[in-house]
Amino acid sequence: MAYDASPLQKTGRILLAAAVIVAGAIIGFYMSGGVERLIVTLSAGLFAIIILLENRSERRSNPQAAAPILKNEALAISQHPQFSPLINGIVDPVLVIAGPVVQQANRAARKLLGEHIVGEDIRLVIRHPSVADFISQTPIPETSRPIMLMGIGSRDQRWEMQVKKIGDGKRLLFLWDQSGSYAVDRMRTDFVANASHELRTPLSSIKGFIETLEDDSAGDDAELRTRFLGVMFGEAQRMQKLIDDLISLSRIESEKHNAPDSPVDLGELIREVREVFVNSPDMHGRDILVDITPDLPPTFGDRAQLSQLLHNLISNAVKYGRDGTPIAISLTLSRNGAMQRLVIADEGEGIAPEHLPRLTERFYRVDSGRSRSMGGTGLGLSIVKHIVERHRGRFDIASIPNKGTTITISLPKNAGVQAGTQQ
Ligand SMILES: Nc1ncnc2c1ncn2[C@@H]1O[C@H](COP(=O)(O)OP(=O)(O)OP(=O)(O)O)[C@@H](O)[C@H]1O
Ligand SMILES: [Mg+2]
Repeated sequence: MAYDASPLQKTGRILLAAAVIVAGAIIGFYMSGGVERLIVTLSAGLFAIIILLENRSERRSNPQAAAPILKNEALAISQHPQFSPLINGIVDPVLVIAGPVVQQANRAARKLLGEHIVGEDIRLVIRHPSVADFISQTPIPETSRPIMLMGIGSRDQRWEMQVKKIGDGKRLLFLWDQSGSYAVDRMRTDFVANASHELRTPLSSIKGFIETLEDDSAGDDAELRTRFLGVMFGEAQRMQKLIDDLISLSRIESEKHNAPDSPVDLGELIREVREVFVNSPDMHGRDILVDITPDLPPTFGDRAQLSQLLHNLISNAVKYGRDGTPIAISLTLSRNGAMQRLVIADEGEGIAPEHLPRLTERFYRVDSGRSRSMGGTGLGLSIVKHIVERHRGRFDIASIPNKGTTITISLPKNAGVQAGTQQ
């Protein structure tokens, strides 16, 4: 449920929600939606009481006008002149159905199910066996159990539907968008499947080599044994890296609400990490050129995580840059002095635009075979993204295929102050 509306609209929603509650949807309906929904519900309850009192006093002051005795308060509210405008402000789809016929539908319901659904048979509006089932139930039950619906709206959306009897053969039908929690569930399942797959591949390779070495004819060949042991060591290292990266990710995620606040000299850290790379054997004639604005103030952050960020980005520039081309790193202060801007640019194969939006997804690789053969897990940029988020910074990737890639990271001077979470 998104609360991105102006305060006035929010009030409208609260009032609308109130009408819905009065119409028979009990607080319990809303409980599952979390604190925001509960607050709306409680405010709605208050409004409901006001309308009920208004109804009562009208009947008391003018018993003649109130002569057609209302079957119950809930039905009265659904017929209140304000009911339609009220339900229109509810962000979730709400419908009133009389028998099988849609009598009222708020704006959200019309947007989701069609502009002309009022007057239609609900079984044609929502083509789902459960809808046909509850329409045929006699007597009408007070409330339905939650029904999960797919294929309404976009293909990926999942809706929870609940139906509540409001008397006089009428029912109130609510739809709640559950796509968010469904997507989180799917991401979790995908993550476990991906992680298991990434671990299983080197593991089965190690097992295969062990089996071969157990065979006397191969095991006795010293040269073969040395080669196989080398490959097994490489695979074990890959598993180790994957596990380390997974632990890093979960640690950074668990700390994400805690903005880091230790002073870090980013310029010094860049030079330190540069030393590690330029002295490694994998540089293939590449140099790392560093341009750091002198006398920069320290950044407040987490030194170990910023070091990991630099390692991951420079390692990508080294892996995917062309042999013999330079890698340029610069650190400057933004124009208003509020951010430090780190830019890492390589000259290499670049990345096609269609891949850019997905690069920070876990395990996403443009060419997984190639990345894997270089010992990559596809977690590097995901870790970078989480570190930048924890530092309340910004992360941009610009890339031109066959020319090169430029990564820009902007870090606020003090993430704690920026996020309003000074510790
Ligand atoms: N500088 C770059 N130039 C070209 N492609 C890049 C660059 N940086 C990242 N990529 C692409 O983005 C993908 C994801 O990068 P990421 O760092 O997350 O994973 P990885 O490098 O494959 O593995 P890991 O970093 O976990 O060892 C890479 O597989 C590669 O295809
Ligand atoms: Mg990487």
